[in-house]
Amino acid sequence: MSAPGSSRTVVPPEHVFDWLDDAAAQRADAGLVRTLRHRLADETALDLAGNDYLGLARDKRVAGAGAAAALRWGAGATGSRLVTGTTELHAELEYELARFCGAQSALVFSSGFAANLGAVTALTGREAAIVTDKYIHASLIEGCRLSRADVAAVAHRDPAAVEHALSTRRRERALVVTDSVFSVDGDLAPLRELAAVVRRQSAALLVDDAHGLGVLGEGGRGAVHAAGLAAEPDVVTTVTLSKSFGAQGGAVLGPRRVIRHLVDTARSFIFDTALAPAATASALAALRVLREEPELADRVRGRAAELAGRLGEAGFGVSVPDGAVVSVRAPGPDEAVRWAAACAEQGVRVGCFRPPSVPDGVSRLRLTARADLSDADLDRAIAVIGETAPPSARG
Ligand SMILES: Cc1ncc(COP(=O)(O)O)c(C=O)c1O
Repeated sequence: MSAPGSSRTVVPPEHVFDWLDDAAAQRADAGLVRTLRHRLADETALDLAGNDYLGLARDKRVAGAGAAAALRWGAGATGSRLVTGTTELHAELEYELARFCGAQSALVFSSGFAANLGAVTALTGREAAIVTDKYIHASLIEGCRLSRADVAAVAHRDPAAVEHALSTRRRERALVVTDSVFSVDGDLAPLRELAAVVRRQSAALLVDDAHGLGVLGEGGRGAVHAAGLAAEPDVVTTVTLSKSFGAQGGAVLGPRRVIRHLVDTARSFIFDTALAPAATASALAALRVLREEPELADRVRGRAAELAGRLGEAGFGVSVPDGAVVSVRAPGPDEAVRWAAACAEQGVRVGCFRPPSVPDGVSRLRLTARADLSDADLDRAIAVIGETAPPSARG
């Protein structure tokens, strides 16, 4: 039977989603099925897969502040930031975060993903050009797509390529978009060089400092602060509160007029329920802990360097970590999956990146250091990774 007014055959409702089964079968053939594993509250495995870089997610001061805020303000924020969702906790967090990172102003979003979507779309649009490093985080890529700007993705960590793309752009306004520390290999973008390029080319710079906040710079003030760019009039920073701060949420930091513009125009800010009071209070508590214990940032960097150094000495292909992320090359995607699973069986949780999540096609184990890793933890991690390695992983 045909649909009225069309030659298309009518599909019974129970078959409308049949195409999903075909898509699932194709993913299974390509080895791209993802599984959700339940983490237990009392898990004893050594966690080198999460992003709790400073070990603050379970810190009593941080988790306790969240619990108290939920009791005082309620479980949810009750509305968008512009309606009922802004509490004094949000205002305090914005004030203290901006001061800590050296920016003029800050705006808290419900996630780092939402902060990136909001910042990239609100600061560009159809009439703008965007030049990105080709390895930027997925949330920035989505922001670029939604912006309808003219987007050019150029070579990784290559200011000359950025300059060429800017100088040949066909749009007047332009935004350069980069991660500070890249998610996969943990390498650092050449931020000062990029800032000089945008100045020469009358553009602006947006840096996603998700992996830099709490880890890099003086007392964990982040990579943008370390590069001396946090207060620059043409630089905007985005961060997440879900990694070093052990909580949830995101923020944009930058010149006051940028923040004002986002409040009025960023759709992922306006049409989104505000960050829950518990997460806001926990992030604020984490920020205060970090201010009181700046050595946490040095410690996580030290642990990452030791992890990478010792795995390198053991013969593995290891990235040189600029922050907390260490990647170890695997011979191939299947070997990487089996290697990570074998580590988990031995009680060490590591991340596993393989195509298409890795832009260069190289499969890796992805390890994240934490400030609270003991020497015994490091010994155990290195022993387990070594014992479970596929034969061709060394050399
Ligand atoms: C570089 C980068 N940017 C943004 C995000 C998104 O942050 P969130 O998890 O807070 O949404 C992440 C983390 O997942 C990230 O690694």
